[in-house]
Amino acid sequence: MSRKNVTKMREIKLVTIVGARPQFIKAAPVSRAIKKHNGSHGVQVREVLVHSGQHYDYLMSKVFFDELGIPEPRYNIGAGSGAHGRQTGVMLEKIEDVLIKEKPDLVFVYGDTNTTLAGALAAVKLHIPIAHVEAGLRSYNKLMPEEINRVLTDHVSTLLFCPTRASVENLKKEGLSAGVYRVGDVMYDSFRFNIKIAERDSNILKTMGLTPKGYYLSTVHRAENTDNAGRLESILRAMNSCGKPVVLPLHPRTKKILDERSSRLRLKNIFMTEPLPYFDMAVLTKNASAVLTDSGGLQKEAYFLKVPCITLRDETEWMETCEAGWNVLTGADKLKIVDACLNLSFRKYSRHPAVYGNGNAAEKIVKLLIKHVA
Ligand code: UD1
Repeated sequence: MSRKNVTKMREIKLVTIVGARPQFIKAAPVSRAIKKHNGSHGVQVREVLVHSGQHYDYLMSKVFFDELGIPEPRYNIGAGSGAHGRQTGVMLEKIEDVLIKEKPDLVFVYGDTNTTLAGALAAVKLHIPIAHVEAGLRSYNKLMPEEINRVLTDHVSTLLFCPTRASVENLKKEGLSAGVYRVGDVMYDSFRFNIKIAERDSNILKTMGLTPKGYYLSTVHRAENTDNAGRLESILRAMNSCGKPVVLPLHPRTKKILDERSSRLRLKNIFMTEPLPYFDMAVLTKNASAVLTDSGGLQKEAYFLKVPCITLRDETEWMETCEAGWNVLTGADKLKIVDACLNLSFRKYSRHPAVYGNGNAAEKIVKLLIKHVA
């Protein structure tokens, strides 16, 4: 490259803030696309990764960095667990220090966790523009901490990268249209990139002695289910009566609660495990009869793999999966859950529209970003 070209290159610095399990999955394809497009349109992008430390156990954090090839974060601010206000406050204070030191041109935040909100607040108060990936999702349930986090983050962001048509519409209803782009879902990018590798590398079916379509896969971690004894018990009793074994990788908080209660419930049909890495989860999802979950990510991953999903919530941000017939909302109602399991023909699984894009959301994000700054 000639000296003339070097002087022409515009360099921009991004700080990417992640901290909870799904954010590692979402940020990985964007980091990869940044590397791929670096230098295009005369823009050199430098990404500085910040880990808030919201998730810190090996199986909740490091294993995702290893599997997804995410580089070691430049900063790990080690916020750890705590009550929502305290956890968000600790992160806000420490992320602010990082942003003052790094002086980025833009901050990237993902999804709807306390890490997302802390990153967005720290940035906006320093007048640093924010790009929110997975903008515009709404459950319209303000009792969910995630709903508060995403509404506030959307309203202070400059670039809002939406996964779906509905998310763009949601923002429009709130008066947000400038800087809003429908790009598709970065989780679909991650899925597309990794599924073959996962199938090659994971031995989880053999290790657990499972046969394809001979079990259900479940995750339960939302506060509305774990912190409500009646709801959790109803979900577990349903799993115990749904005809096939249920594999239940446990989020640490759910584990803590179940350690106190499950012996009393005699859950013979449920096989509890540690939290599982991304590859094992992908293989388990692909081969399950159905997925029972309160996770947003897993609802979509089931859809990507054309596996029916039973959502243990009263509403979902991912309505497209229900509209296409692959997902049904049962809440924590035991009868509804068992009925859905035993009648997996609850919908005709014929339509499978590409509602989450084509697996190139990250590419679109980076191209838009470069256009924005060029
Ligand atoms: C967070 C997100 C949620 C996301 C989920 C993905 C918020 C408000 N919620 O919920 O949207 O779906 O991550 O998993 O940000 N714990 C450990 N080890 C860890 C992490 C957590 O033991 O590595 C335990 C702690 O007891 C902690 C509890 O899990 O108090 C909850 O963790 P926290 O990060 O507060 O929220 P999540 O429930 O994981």
